[in-house]
Amino acid sequence: MPSEETPFDANAPAWPTVSVVVPTFREAESLPYLIDRLGSVARSRGLRLDLTIVDDDSRDGTAELVRARPEDWLRLIVRTSDRGLSQAVLEGLRHARGEVLVCMDADLSHPPEAIPAMLAKLAEGADFVIGSRYVEGGSTAHDWGFLRWANSRVATWLARPLTHVSDPMSGFFALRRRTFEAGRDFNPIGYKIGLELVVKCRCERVVEIPIHFADRRFGASKLSLRQQLLYLGHLRRLYAFRHGLFTPLVQFLVVGGLGVLVNLVLLTLLLAAGAATRVAVALAILGAMGSNFALSRRGRLAPEPELAWPRALVRYVAATAPGALLDWLVTLAAIDRFPAWPPQAAALVGIAIGAALNFAASNYLAFRARHVRVRRPPA
Ligand code: GDD
Ligand code: MN
Repeated sequence: MPSEETPFDANAPAWPTVSVVVPTFREAESLPYLIDRLGSVARSRGLRLDLTIVDDDSRDGTAELVRARPEDWLRLIVRTSDRGLSQAVLEGLRHARGEVLVCMDADLSHPPEAIPAMLAKLAEGADFVIGSRYVEGGSTAHDWGFLRWANSRVATWLARPLTHVSDPMSGFFALRRRTFEAGRDFNPIGYKIGLELVVKCRCERVVEIPIHFADRRFGASKLSLRQQLLYLGHLRRLYAFRHGLFTPLVQFLVVGGLGVLVNLVLLTLLLAAGAATRVAVALAILGAMGSNFALSRRGRLAPEPELAWPRALVRYVAATAPGALLDWLVTLAAIDRFPAWPPQAAALVGIAIGAALNFAASNYLAFRARHVRVRRPPA
């Protein structure tokens, strides 16, 4: 790393004070090395730096170790409830008093020597600086298996609609405390706290600096399959935060689009199997309704997600029956009237008209529910 060799520039503006936050779970073996390296970066570069270790009650000697250290810039927070990497980081960031906040892992995967380069980027006007494995000059330790590599790339790709940086998964980042304090609605699930902060603090100038991501020397990774599933839920929430109303609309269109597909495929199969036209059209419509119902409940598009599914299904059928019936009648009429058309084309006309009726009806009912209040006599 070239910045390591650059001597401290006396003419450069003074460094801001830096609070480093490190979440830990069973990292007692790594911590002495991390503290030593942070200490020597601070000394050699003239940085005012403090370190907050946010430990989820590891009981592996972490607390004793921190207490026995001579440095007066160390702080330990031991958490006994609401465990989790992101929650720990947020708690540490809230306690931090430095002008700049840096977050990193305890296991020496992230080089403390890169911190001055991060500060320089902030001074140049960046809102958020990421220590990145994937920009020019960055690298990962050799023994990263294919699976871990592929996994990381897919996760990165899924974050594309939120940010264009090459390593949004990184847990090594820096931002001004001001930026953090302007963030709102923090609600991370899983461990992608950096991505959460970029989105919720509305960081616009996100800059990456290359780092070498070293393999951990001690202990074990805490990344599990469960964490990766949580990541998908986290992404959904971040998309919703960033894109607002757009997301329910897109979900609605996806569910509806799949319903159309189910309808057409069923219709084609049933007609090919020799079913009577009226029966085939009816079953295709029912199949699409079933798929729409199941998908909208999964995606929590349904108006009352807390309702048990049998009741929800009854309500759903009652609400959509008029459109479905109209769809059936129009499709059959179109097949009758335009024998030259493929029946799928007739079905599309029926779907469009039936869906329009249901759309208008549900909007009307929602309007009434909002604006027409039933007056009750005082008790
Ligand atoms: N307080 C607390 N609570 N800390 C935790 C917890 C927890 O439940 N789980 C993990 N940590 C700490 C670890 O002790 C370590 O300091 C840091 O969080 C990262 O955990 P690792 O187990 O080392 O994760 P990793 O190496 O798989 O993940 C790293 O790479 C990812 C990108 O591939 C981290 O840098 C992630 O932040 C990063 O997203
Ligand atoms: Mn690690």
